[in-house]
Amino acid sequence: MASILGIGLTHYPPLAWQDAHMADILKLLLDAPGVPASFKDRSRWPAEMLVELGGDGGLSAAAAHRAALVAEFRRMRERLDEFRPDFVVVFGDDQYENFREDLVPPFCVLALDETEIRPFASGATAMRPNVWGEPREQAFRYPGHRAGAKALARGLLERGIDLPYAYRTLHDDGLAHAFANTLLYLDYDRRGFPYPVVPFQVNCYGSTLLATRGGFGHLLRARAADSTAVDPDPPGPAPWRCMEVGAAIADTLRDSPWRVALIASSSWSHAFLTPRTGYLWPDHASDRRLLAALRAADYRTWRQTPLGELEAAGEHELLNWCVLLGAMQRLGRRARVEAWIETWIFNSNKCFAWFPPEP
Ligand SMILES: [Fe+2]
Repeated sequence: MASILGIGLTHYPPLAWQDAHMADILKLLLDAPGVPASFKDRSRWPAEMLVELGGDGGLSAAAAHRAALVAEFRRMRERLDEFRPDFVVVFGDDQYENFREDLVPPFCVLALDETEIRPFASGATAMRPNVWGEPREQAFRYPGHRAGAKALARGLLERGIDLPYAYRTLHDDGLAHAFANTLLYLDYDRRGFPYPVVPFQVNCYGSTLLATRGGFGHLLRARAADSTAVDPDPPGPAPWRCMEVGAAIADTLRDSPWRVALIASSSWSHAFLTPRTGYLWPDHASDRRLLAALRAADYRTWRQTPLGELEAAGEHELLNWCVLLGAMQRLGRRARVEAWIETWIFNSNKCFAWFPPEP
């Protein structure tokens, strides 16, 4: 009989790095030409930021940040193991990984029989030595669930949502880091991850996808901070549309024979995406507004937030959560927020929430 579990978490790449490197994004940005000099002046930094940095450049804060994140990943893994899904659907962004100049769909479900990732060979997660001490070529294999992915594509198309699908990836042999890290972190203790995976890509980077290549390279190049404004790409899907897609996913799965875990994977406000904070720390006020709405099951606030407002706050990747919330709203579920982890020096705020399945 159909049953649906909802989970929200993060795929924060520096969690895969050693503690000594966890604040490296901030360090890179402090040298970046695109970051305004006025924001680089430490005397003007918020007191909380200086406290978190401490006297060791954030090293002890990194250990605490890791401990908080790993505890939540273990808790979410327990929820999954208790639920025993037939497959998991992961909503994740693509940061110029699988989708590039040749094709940028707003959404895409990957119907794979199996997938293999090498997360330490290239990409954001591979930028620093990994905390597990695993070799560069370390491969991880996960079963896919082709029938489930096809049913999702069919169900959405029949409900008027023109969902792209693919039977293999385009550019990367494995999966984009949003998916890869989610799987690595849900198996932080390396016991294995047995549940078949259906990656569901969301074009979170929208108008800046190609200009920034889904990262912060534009800030590292002189004068390039304004290049995104000169030649923006077409937008990604709006929050309301992502929630409509989520609702159709709920309707489709409710009529299916499967037990499915829907997992939204992303941090919230990203420092390197918001000019409001000089690209150095997250937009806490915007995150807290949406967190309050999440806790209150106030889905309307999420639905009515314009895409431009999410992007101004560096919350691009919250579109992944919007898909999940659209599904949960349709099912009449309410979030249990297990942890809200704010930071000033580790690039992004993180939320761990789950939506218990029906009794
Ligand atoms: Fe991401």
